[in-house]
Amino acid sequence: MSNDGVNAGRRRFLVAATSVVGAAGAVGAAVPFVGAWFPSARAKAAGAPVKVNISKIQPGEQMVAEWRGKPVFILRRTEETLAALEKLDGVVADPESQSSVQPAYVDKKTRAIKPELLIVEGLCTHLGCSPTFRPEVAPADLGPEWMGGYFCACHGSKYDLAGRVLKAQPAPLNLPVPPHFYESDDVVIVGVDQENA
Ligand code: FES
Repeated sequence: MSNDGVNAGRRRFLVAATSVVGAAGAVGAAVPFVGAWFPSARAKAAGAPVKVNISKIQPGEQMVAEWRGKPVFILRRTEETLAALEKLDGVVADPESQSSVQPAYVDKKTRAIKPELLIVEGLCTHLGCSPTFRPEVAPADLGPEWMGGYFCACHGSKYDLAGRVLKAQPAPLNLPVPPHFYESDDVVIVGVDQENA
């Protein structure tokens, strides 16, 4: 892969990430939390954990946090979404994330500590563009088989709503689940395991 290709991918990520944050703000999920992040931008850039208030994320919506300069998708899944994931085990490449990045304390199937709350890094495992949140079922552009998920417009990789990449996509792995733990029902700390906090 040439540097030009990688750089082009990074540029696309910047554009895509901006648009994703904008989309989340439009539904009122992301903007109120920006001021709640800590510590400082400088500390975050150095890799410090971030504290995120998730209380206002409605079922079926996601917000986008930031950790280590990367977008982190936080999705509150519905019962219907969780049920649909079961049906997708046969069409995803790594249904239990045997080869993908996720902490050992995350459930293999739901890829979450709490089944309803998915937390994944929002960068495609192909070349690093930020996939778009596409929760609708069978939209015209993604086809009748689409059960809701994340779509990477750069080269077409598709992920389900557990961040699991479908088979035969450019992306080789599931979206990584970062270390995290819940400080309370409404607050999650992203970037550190509970035992290391
Ligand atoms: S960066 Fe190539 S498919 Fe996502």
